[in-house]
Amino acid sequence: MVNYKDLGLVNTREMFKRAVAGGYDIPAFNFNTMEQMQAIVMAAVETKSPVIMQVSKGARNYANATILRYMAEGAVAYAKELGCAHPEIVLHLDHGDSFELCKDCIDMGFSSVMIDGSHLPYEENVALAKKVVEYAHQFDVTVEAELGVLAGVEDEVSAAESHYTKPEEVIDFATRTGCDSLAISIGTSHGAHKFTPEQCTLVNGVLVPPPLAFDILHEIEKKLPGFPIVLHGSSSVPMDEVNTINQFGGKLEAAIGIPEEQLREASKSAVCKINIDSDSRLAMTAAIRKHLAEHPGDFDPRQYLKPARENMKKMYIHKIVNVLGSDGKLAQ
Ligand code: 13P
Repeated sequence: MVNYKDLGLVNTREMFKRAVAGGYDIPAFNFNTMEQMQAIVMAAVETKSPVIMQVSKGARNYANATILRYMAEGAVAYAKELGCAHPEIVLHLDHGDSFELCKDCIDMGFSSVMIDGSHLPYEENVALAKKVVEYAHQFDVTVEAELGVLAGVEDEVSAAESHYTKPEEVIDFATRTGCDSLAISIGTSHGAHKFTPEQCTLVNGVLVPPPLAFDILHEIEKKLPGFPIVLHGSSSVPMDEVNTINQFGGKLEAAIGIPEEQLREASKSAVCKINIDSDSRLAMTAAIRKHLAEHPGDFDPRQYLKPARENMKKMYIHKIVNVLGSDGKLAQ
């Protein structure tokens, strides 16, 4: 049993309280590789931001559970080495699909877990989330649960259609499960293809997707004042990265994300955690494709992973400063 406090990690409780009160969001960036982890830590330190480093079940299988625990410990030490005396780094399980997986992560040093029972019938979702909360809270690990279904594909999580969160269920769900934060469905979705071109309107040559369901978000806020709300599927799918990928041999068609203005608007509400994975994948892939196309003789991974890391760091800093507003928000 490894307690996250011994690794120098923190849970989400205090940072969420401050984010809700301050009208900004904590970034939750997914990672699988050392370069992603380094870029996240560099960006968080440079901007003096709290940060959630999250791994899905697939990422955990890819990176290895034991290595991840040391990567998280390394992330804290690295942040201090970069000059941040008191980093606030959360290691979070994204989309845990069973009690056993959540328990395993808690036992291996995670400071926060998500139990995603959103695809289950309501009462089963409640029972599963409650069981995870009861276990996690013994170790002061925070728990995110989900109501409503997001469309899209993310590792092993996929759904063809989204179902918006029903505001009339949130009080009962939060009270009975005891969860610390709630992921909701208001029109975001996982992946780089969040909308079809047919769902969008063409404005000045740009496809603009339909707005998020802010009316549902506000109704939820009214029912659960100050309760931390989480938005999954919040990549913006920047067109410059998509264009670079396509210019250098890729084939990403009709990639459409959530406009950043919508995320900025959401961050002023009780939404206090924004999940971003696809934008990091795009930034990494664009830089690698460009580098290899321009330097066809290179074969040392450091030659193309260094610009990839730089590009991800630039993207993380942009999100923190210009979209989420968590820069300068460390407690000390
Ligand atoms: P994106 O695919 O929009 O980056 O969403 C990631 C996510 O929600 C992880 O849980």
